[in-house]
Amino acid sequence: MPETLVVLVHPNLKESRINATWKAALAAHPGRITVHDLHAAAPGGKIDVAAEQALVRAHTRVIFQFPLYWFSSPPLLKQWFDEVLGLGFAYGPGGDAFEGKDFGVAVSTGSAASAFRAGGQDGFTLDEILRPFQATAGFLRARYLPYHAFHGAGEPFTDEELAANAAAYVAWALGETPVG
Ligand SMILES: Cc1cc2nc3c(=O)[nH]c(=O)nc-3n(C[C@H](O)[C@H](O)[C@H](O)COP(=O)(O)O)c2cc1C
Repeated sequence: MPETLVVLVHPNLKESRINATWKAALAAHPGRITVHDLHAAAPGGKIDVAAEQALVRAHTRVIFQFPLYWFSSPPLLKQWFDEVLGLGFAYGPGGDAFEGKDFGVAVSTGSAASAFRAGGQDGFTLDEILRPFQATAGFLRARYLPYHAFHGAGEPFTDEELAANAAAYVAWALGETPVG
């Protein structure tokens, strides 16, 4: 069984450049990474909670991958948290599914990296914007990883830049990047 589960949430993957490239790079490691396209797995927004919980149980590292939408995730991921992280599964008595697991966020942004700072275009760092994910990981007693990102989707960038970022993403998703 692969060690890393990537829950990929993109409402329009056919039009995606970054998340689709990331997905293809991850898919080259089927023995170690399970790529789970949530929109494909939950047609009409119907999440199979038991199946999602079984996927989480079967992996030791869970990565949530998505494009940043209004300083948050696309809504299906919020729904996943609301429905899958149930009492007795993720928290409360017997709720140990994430305990000790790595919990990471991989996010693409339209804004450039320089936008994410106090006084910059967006005014907040990505760490600040991702606090709800960090807080959730803490509540679940998981280990929150430093995020992986690709910035500047709204500006021109080369296939080579994206390929290098995707390679770094795969190494990070496999736990091969030192956390420091
Ligand atoms: C509804 C919507 C909201 C968005 N909100 C943000 C945002 O808050 N910050 C940002 O940097 N980019 C924002 N974007 C841009 C996306 O993050 C960007 O298009 C995406 O990361 C590109 O990845 P892809 O090539 O995989 O689609 C938004 C895009 C859409 C469609």
